Amino acid sequence: MIGVFDSGVGGLTVVKEIFRYLPEYQIIYFGDTARLPYGTKGEAFVKRYSAKITEYLIKRGAKIIVIACHTSSSWASESLKKQFSIPVFEMITSAGLEASLKTKNNKIGIIGTPGTIKSRSFEKKLLKINPDLKIYPKSCPLFVPLVEEGWVSNRIVLETAKEYLSGVKSKRIDTLILACTHYPLLEGTVKKIMGPKVSIINPAKTVAKEIRDFLENNPKTADNVKKGANHQFFFSDEPYNFKKISHLCFNRKMKIKVKDPF
Ligand code: DGL
Repeated sequence: MIGVFDSGVGGLTVVKEIFRYLPEYQIIYFGDTARLPYGTKGEAFVKRYSAKITEYLIKRGAKIIVIACHTSSSWASESLKKQFSIPVFEMITSAGLEASLKTKNNKIGIIGTPGTIKSRSFEKKLLKINPDLKIYPKSCPLFVPLVEEGWVSNRIVLETAKEYLSGVKSKRIDTLILACTHYPLLEGTVKKIMGPKVSIINPAKTVAKEIRDFLENNPKTADNVKKGANHQFFFSDEPYNFKKISHLCFNRKMKIKVKDPF
């Protein structure tokens, strides 16, 4: 199985893309709704629970891990890659690469949770690829609760997005990374504000393509990853507005199990 985890329901945007690019593989998902949000938590907390969740998913049969949460990817991916022997995918590498290839004027904006922005994870990755890049980061903490309310394009969302994005827009960036699980659901609103000349990078898509390429090139691992449609969705507490979010992502109902294993 492909083990996917997030602080809550936002990681379903990543599952959506895995379903699109790797439709034959089975998924086991864990959303840590008992402890969310991760975006405003400290590094040690996020590392601790990311490791516990990874261990839990491996015990339940995951053969590769996808850290769908950008905050966990930012704080914990390096330690998880060292700690566990199975392949661990995170949200930063493929999105960073795509952004660096897309930009023409070398100006890239990054929007994410306070934790992701504070960690400078995307900046570090991007500057390693190309030290000439100019990076403009901005945390947008209100986006997560707005999306969880099912609000993705109303006037409140539009005004909030205008306020958050005016700074990066004024820097004349030509590429913007949506560095949070929830933000792909705001892509339409973000596009409206940034205009047609700005390329929007959705890391949920780039990571799904990265995993597809990896499995094509690693048939032994691919054989180990169970195929089938018997997907499992676990949450450590009742997920708020799950129906709305899963509807926004998949347009269909999902069966879930609620249990806190920690
Ligand atoms: N999943 C988180 C992320 O992508 C956003 C929600 C949270 O703060 O827990 O960073």
